[in-house]
Amino acid sequence: MITWAWRRELDPADAAEVADLLAEAAAYDAEAGFSTARLDGDGTGERHHLVVEMPPVGSRGSAELDALPDVRVVAYLCLTVSEGVGAVQFVVRPPFRSRGVATLLAEQLDADARGWAAVPGVAELRVWAHGAHPAAGRMADRFGASVEDAVFRTLRMIGGSRPFVAELAAVRRAAAEDQGWESVPGHRRSIAPDDLEILGRAEEELSLVAGAGRALIGVSRDDPARDLATLTVLRDGAETRAELKVLITQALLVLQADGARMVQSHVPALDDAMVSVARELDLVHDQSDLLYRRRLAG
Ligand SMILES: CC(C)(COP(=O)(O)OP(=O)(O)OC[C@H]1O[C@@H](n2cnc3c(N)ncnc32)[C@H](O)[C@@H]1OP(=O)(O)O)[C@@H](O)C(=O)NCCC(=O)NCCS
Repeated sequence: MITWAWRRELDPADAAEVADLLAEAAAYDAEAGFSTARLDGDGTGERHHLVVEMPPVGSRGSAELDALPDVRVVAYLCLTVSEGVGAVQFVVRPPFRSRGVATLLAEQLDADARGWAAVPGVAELRVWAHGAHPAAGRMADRFGASVEDAVFRTLRMIGGSRPFVAELAAVRRAAAEDQGWESVPGHRRSIAPDDLEILGRAEEELSLVAGAGRALIGVSRDDPARDLATLTVLRDGAETRAELKVLITQALLVLQADGARMVQSHVPALDDAMVSVARELDLVHDQSDLLYRRRLAG
């Protein structure tokens, strides 16, 4: 049903088809918040592209497959290898999903000498699944992957007829410098394009005058989403729970005064202090992003 091959560089024809697949998947998955692969991988190491192809309509071996769109590239996997770890970004073209493409590919990559074994220096695979995709969860179970880390996307409404009211504390406001910062390593580079755009709204760094604690914040300048703001705590472990609470409270107050009506924040799910402060301040869980890890045999 499928054929595939690793490439270190995509030729122009493959690059165009893969870009088309990624655009189609990004549009299809945007609402659900699922991740999508990126042609530049996760930007951290040696990139290997796997282009998964299906024969032309009429020669696919089943009427069901022949009824699907007449495209050559039906899935794309980008593997970025660094220090023995292969970061996987994988996406199946939407009309070809739930037909076993991912399962078949995973089986073949394990069993075939041209599969994982052909990529030098990979002992372990890591993949982010966003929005707890049911297929990703079942794939993880089947192939023995375990959850290594997680990030909660949370939302909080502010302003309007029921404004957020809290005690003011002294803060410093400066232009944001740590734009590439992430709560859990690798998460930022894996998120869906819409989420990345919201994170990119961070223009200011807020810090407490008394005590440790820094956060990136920002509201959109673009209509119509002007009122959706971003909040990321730049956690370095030195902050007490009480400081985290004051910091997030001040961030919410500043964003509210700047016109935000909704705040989105990614919270590291294994950080108990962050999770409990987020809950206390009514940042409501909206989505879980899970980092799966799987050791390769041999
Ligand atoms: C996740 C994804 C790669 C799965 O690809 P796929 O070719 O559709 O997967 P398969 O058809 O091989 O199905 C894999 C498993 O998920 C199940 N599944 C597939 N689609 C499903 C759906 N919509 N709801 C629930 N389960 C589903 C299948 O039954 C199968 O489980 P089983 O073997 O226990 O029966 C694909 O849906 C995708 O590209 N999603 C968007 C990108 C993404 O989330 N990537 C995450 C990184 S892996």
